[in-house]
Amino acid sequence: MNNGEIKAVGIVGAGLMGHALAQIFALKGFDVNIFDKNRAILEKIPEKMVVNLQVFLDLDLITQADADSCLEKITLCDGITDIYSKDCLIIEAVSENLGIKKEVFAELEKHVSPKTILCTNTSAISITSISENLRFKERVIGTHFWNPPHIMPCVEVIKSNYTSTGVFDTVVEFMKRAGKTPVKVLKDVPGFLGNRMQHALWREAISLVENGIATPEDIDRVVTSSFGLRLSFIGPLETADLAGLDLSLNIQKDLFPELESSVEPAPILVNRVNQGETGVKAGKGFYQWNEKKINRLINQRDYTLLKILNEIPPRNENAEE
Ligand SMILES: NC(=O)c1ccc[n+]([C@@H]2O[C@H](COP(=O)([O-])OP(=O)(O)OC[C@H]3O[C@@H](n4cnc5c(N)ncnc54)[C@H](O)[C@@H]3O)[C@@H](O)[C@H]2O)c1
Repeated sequence: MNNGEIKAVGIVGAGLMGHALAQIFALKGFDVNIFDKNRAILEKIPEKMVVNLQVFLDLDLITQADADSCLEKITLCDGITDIYSKDCLIIEAVSENLGIKKEVFAELEKHVSPKTILCTNTSAISITSISENLRFKERVIGTHFWNPPHIMPCVEVIKSNYTSTGVFDTVVEFMKRAGKTPVKVLKDVPGFLGNRMQHALWREAISLVENGIATPEDIDRVVTSSFGLRLSFIGPLETADLAGLDLSLNIQKDLFPELESSVEPAPILVNRVNQGETGVKAGKGFYQWNEKKINRLINQRDYTLLKILNEIPPRNENAEE
């Protein structure tokens, strides 16, 4: 199947990621068929989408007609087989559990054409292991979207040990057609690209809290008001070149022995989780949370991200200047 042949998108799993994935493709005019084994979650999609779309409307990024047509393009399905049409690409966004994902793919394989491309939105599970027992492994691929996926441009497209080059190229092109920024991950490594870098940062941030070097507020503030701000426009390797690799080398020689390098999650994280302090869903994590505070933060995050994205000038990375 090539990029041009894809006219519809089937989605399995309508939780945090699945419902917002539906919005991406429906807004671009694709028919979207979505299924979740939990009917109540599925039926909440229109309500959640109205909230998501309102942010785009408020910032004049879409018209009311776009929003209406987006909602019309989405069909809530009664069974997993109903998400399939012969011109569709399928994205799995069910819970992060290898067994559940393998069952979903085995079920899909029974019903869809061998040419239908099957994507998984897993954050960390190996795409190769999800594909392992399937008959047509070459059409399974990782498409790791970032939360909130209807706003964040990046999709890491991950080649498993079995994914064909044709499927890989088609998915990269299709993601561009859907308005996303695909990034090619050529080897199926744990955490792909983004989560490897993100969790390296979180390991250090959590270690700084654990060692009483600063408060969570100040640790977050240093990121959002310094290098985090710069990172939305210029990446770490470009920044290293600008700073000078000789300087980076000298800093790393002194600093690396001091950085957190544990291969186990920090005790402070383990203890919090064991005590039920799992973050917003429990009302307590590194911070205290209530519903008003959570909703306000998510709302401000979405408006801010869209405003920043709208202002970032396009990068012409192939230009030789
Ligand atoms: N949450 C994030 O920030 C994030 C970011 C990137 C990727 N992901 C990945 O996306 C996937 C989904 O994550 P989420 O945060 O949306 O999870 P979620 O728990 O919000 O949603 C998962 C949904 O899958 C449904 N489900 C479970 N088994 C099913 C089955 N057999 N058939 C149909 N539906 C089934 C559940 O009912 C639930 O609604 C995971 O693999 C996760 O690692 C999550």
